[in-house]
Amino acid sequence: MNQPETPGFLHTFVPGRSARTLLLLHGTGGNEIDLISLGRALDSDANLLSPRGKVLENGMPRFFRRLAEGIFDEEDLIRRTHELADFIEQASTKYGLNRQNLLAIGYSNGANIAASLLLLRAGTLAGAVLLRPMVPIVPEPLPDLKGVPVLVVSGRYDSIIPADEALQLVATLRGAGAEVSISFENTGHGLTEGTVEIARRWLATVGRVTELESSEIRNQQEASAP
Ligand code: MLT
Repeated sequence: MNQPETPGFLHTFVPGRSARTLLLLHGTGGNEIDLISLGRALDSDANLLSPRGKVLENGMPRFFRRLAEGIFDEEDLIRRTHELADFIEQASTKYGLNRQNLLAIGYSNGANIAASLLLLRAGTLAGAVLLRPMVPIVPEPLPDLKGVPVLVVSGRYDSIIPADEALQLVATLRGAGAEVSISFENTGHGLTEGTVEIARRWLATVGRVTELESSEIRNQQEASAP
């Protein structure tokens, strides 16, 4: 049943062994189970939080309404983005997750709501992997995403999302200060083993940076302790 007024989402939570959490956001017609194995392949130690989109399009779950393929219902997108951000905050408290270490992994419609979270609710995500994304919205003014790591992985032969869209999204996120890497694969809209490998390698780099930063923070705290 659709429950538009409540922030609660049907979701799966798989506890991990590290401080990192991957927020898994499925594509149109997916569900909260869909990306669990992808999440594990990307990071064998992370917590996995995977909500199911609440909007139904001909019975297929999505994260926000669209009027046609690639044409979004902006009012619904904005409302659903905040609803999902509220859920992430509540779930972080419930499961004791460190939000400084919470990265979204979104595919297609899930990548679009992840990009919307970055642009409309900066601070909700510490970074994102956007697989086959397009531009969900361009807020005015842009948020401050200084230093937020983002990976965009697009398909050169994607029949749903033209390469231009991915480049525009990269430009928008960079305009907001995010550190965006982009990779084009010689493939279409579907995910490939190559996609997983690109994302896994990128995440390993982000992990190293985060660990370094937190040990630097620890050192600074120790140095300034009375
Ligand atoms: C969207 O609606 O978010 C995009 O067109 C991608 C899709 O889900 O097909």
